[in-house]
Amino acid sequence: MTVKEMQSEIIRLKKEKNICILAHAYQSHEILEVADYTGDSFGLSLNAAQAEADTILMCGVRFMAETVKILSPQKRVILSNSEAGCPMAEQMDVELVSQLKEDYPDYSTVCYINTTSELKTICDVCVTSSSAEKIIGNMQSDKILFIPDCNLGDYISKQLPDKTFKLVSGGCPTHLRISVRDVEKARQLHPDAELLVHPECHPKVTALADFVGSTTGIMSYAEKSDKTSFIIGTENSIVQHLQMSCPDKRFYPLSKDCVCHNMKLTTLADVYNCVRGVGGEEITLDENIRLGAKRCIDEMLRLNK
Ligand code: 13P
Ligand code: SF4
Repeated sequence: MTVKEMQSEIIRLKKEKNICILAHAYQSHEILEVADYTGDSFGLSLNAAQAEADTILMCGVRFMAETVKILSPQKRVILSNSEAGCPMAEQMDVELVSQLKEDYPDYSTVCYINTTSELKTICDVCVTSSSAEKIIGNMQSDKILFIPDCNLGDYISKQLPDKTFKLVSGGCPTHLRISVRDVEKARQLHPDAELLVHPECHPKVTALADFVGSTTGIMSYAEKSDKTSFIIGTENSIVQHLQMSCPDKRFYPLSKDCVCHNMKLTTLADVYNCVRGVGGEEITLDENIRLGAKRCIDEMLRLNK
């Protein structure tokens, strides 16, 4: 079967079976082409809340599929590859964060959406990279315990200097592979290019960027910009997506090592098997955990208005 034939079958079957395919921007281009919605973590959450199909197929990692199930419990939610998890989401558990909350009793606990559903039940609000500044800015509390990504937390704390942040050591192993040396090398090779990076990168890398934003933020910045060349400091699939959407512009990866192996686990064949009903994992959540995590996600959607 060719890629095109497999894609046509996926499109035919998803219509026949009323399946909505959501795909995070770090998925491969051939998967994005068959998706009904592609975007960053915040965009996926909005679509999860609004999707009308009976079944939602999430091409991304486990916490993203859980977010869909939390917001749409009546729907069948399938994670396209059951092995695809986010290592950052597993870095902190309820026990550790409960202790932190005891240590900082007058702080509000804000968690990145890249956390387990269980952990969300004990947090006040969750955020994504594109919504964190607005949401935390809208919170009444001016003392923020931010978990688990200390790089994103550090970046947001610099945008909101009137608030006090407690950060704990945690972060994305993929973006942490990017170094200042990578920036120096890329600037030397492409002196006219603008450097666009994700806030999950180390603060020393973020400080050198021309623009800092979520996956969707980086893509729309590059698409709208008058500039013609860009160094991309996030998962390398974004380089390829931008090359396809702006063929007259040039895009270079900041580091060839910025590849998320979990995001890359899902293949077009996985998607094909899921729409045929012979693959993926149906997400189920304990109702108490779902409701506890939903409160945290609902607060994110409310405070983003
Ligand atoms: P965004 O898509 O929200 O930028 O998040 C990036 C990421 O690493 C998702 O796991
Ligand atoms: Fe997790 Fe980082 Fe991969 Fe995103 S890129 S899924 S934060 S490991």
